[in-house]
Amino acid sequence: MNPNKALWEKGDFTEIAALMRQSGEALVQSLGITPPLRALDLGCGDGTTAVPLAQSGAEVVGIDIAKNLVDAGNKRAAELGLRGLKFQEGDACALQGVGDHSFDLSLSVFGAMFAPKPFDVARELVRVTKPGGRIVMGNWIPNDPTSFVSQLLKISSSFTPPPPEGFVSPMTWGVESHILERFGQAGVPKENISWVKDTFYFRSPGKSPAQVIDLFRRFYGPTMNAFEAAQKNGKVEDLHAQLVELANGQNKGTDGGTSIPATFLRVTVRR
Ligand SMILES: C[S@@+](CC[C@H](N)C(=O)[O-])C[C@H]1O[C@@H](n2cnc3c(N)ncnc32)[C@H](O)[C@@H]1O
Repeated sequence: MNPNKALWEKGDFTEIAALMRQSGEALVQSLGITPPLRALDLGCGDGTTAVPLAQSGAEVVGIDIAKNLVDAGNKRAAELGLRGLKFQEGDACALQGVGDHSFDLSLSVFGAMFAPKPFDVARELVRVTKPGGRIVMGNWIPNDPTSFVSQLLKISSSFTPPPPEGFVSPMTWGVESHILERFGQAGVPKENISWVKDTFYFRSPGKSPAQVIDLFRRFYGPTMNAFEAAQKNGKVEDLHAQLVELANGQNKGTDGGTSIPATFLRVTVRR
């Protein structure tokens, strides 16, 4: 099986996405959606941004490599009566069956950054977006102590075996020079590419930071793998302690709840 697909189908990202809904809505709000508009949400999960996009009046296709998340997204769309929202399986590296210039907006929030072939991802995002349209990516930032997920993944990867040769870290999507190179190779001039730092919140008023880390341990593929590797080496306690320390250190929640701000790079590409 494709290891990229296996990683994301391993857990249940809906359990993590539940912490991200408010920021997903705020991000979509800030995009200034004015229908009629056709939008792609790539690496959409169960619809943290695809749902509010559709609620703003856009016609939305959510594409994700994980079948369980596509199914969860379609269930949410049906429950919410969102007929203009469809989720389907697909790989950001090769968007088979998606025509050239299909979308006014192609959005990918912490999604396409996890696909293994970043130059192919940039090429596909450019190909499926209409000239005059825009691509918006949300990417975690490497070595930024305030980019919570990049720190969580850094700790997790220090407990897992080294990746196979040729592996490109998803975090490179949070580095400006790589973004320019990838979209440049896809034919986008650098003056059409911009970025700002933004903040996403992981919120759960009823759960402590340690309980949130427990959700990552049980449901988030990369953290699940790290705990499995740590188990073999007798280092579970160490991994757990480092992750809880990270979450406690970043937490701004009060009354025992969790509200962790996480800095990300918001990239906009004008087609
Ligand atoms: C961190 S989750 C983010 C999900 C969603 N965008 C959100 O913010 O809730 C990463 C998502 O990217 C998807 N993904 C990873 N690699 C992918 C690929 N090659 N093509 C499409 N989706 C991919 C995963 O299945 C997962 O749903």
